[in-house]
Amino acid sequence: MHRAAHFPPAPPTMHRAAARLPPARPGPWPRRALCGEAPALLRASGPGVARRLRGQAGVRPGFLSGPEEAALGQELEPQLRRRRYQFDHWDGAIHGFRETEIAQWSEASREILQRVRDTAFPPGMSQLSLVHVLDLDKSGYIKPHIDSVKFCGCTIAGLSLLSSCVMRLVSEQNSEDWMDLLLPRRSLYILRGTARYEFTHEILKDEESFFDGQKIPRERRISVICRNLPAPT
Ligand code: OGA
Ligand code: MN
Repeated sequence: MHRAAHFPPAPPTMHRAAARLPPARPGPWPRRALCGEAPALLRASGPGVARRLRGQAGVRPGFLSGPEEAALGQELEPQLRRRRYQFDHWDGAIHGFRETEIAQWSEASREILQRVRDTAFPPGMSQLSLVHVLDLDKSGYIKPHIDSVKFCGCTIAGLSLLSSCVMRLVSEQNSEDWMDLLLPRRSLYILRGTARYEFTHEILKDEESFFDGQKIPRERRISVICRNLPAPT
């Protein structure tokens, strides 16, 4: 694990540490279309935000098959079970979670992760070899934050296992500018550039888990997240 655990007065975890730092490399980032951006799974506060985030935030429903989700889950379960859910550090970015970073994967999982990388990152981009696995309890949630620009580059790509959920992006400049992403179980989401640097992201708790007025029940959810390395300074 390349960041400190949440001990009070808990510095937030490393990925989420420098929430308010300006990006190391200001934009503009390429507006390369995300294939299968799935507009039905995105809701923005207005057309300006939708335009600003076009090609920068997207969801691919059905990225994993049922058997792939089950196989990944089976591989992760023993490693997660050794850890305890953390509920008590109210000042951290995440409530009701356990997490790990995994370097060694089965052949089948390596294939899935390669597909994630091929989908989310342009060829040749240096990526973190450790894959971040975050297990949110049914009552768990992620508060608004921006991943540390020290440890993570311009792109974040995550698979959702076991439960659908709502990810909310809120503009750092103006909290009235937001976009909700419905992340169906077995989908892949991608945040890059503007969405990654200029908006906070959060995962809504069950009580607040609505997309476009429709309740999206939150169960236990495991996310498997690939990131790239920050550009050398
Ligand atoms: C994080 C994070 C999102 C997710 O760990 O920094 O934002 O999909 N996770 O679990
Ligand atoms: Mn994050």
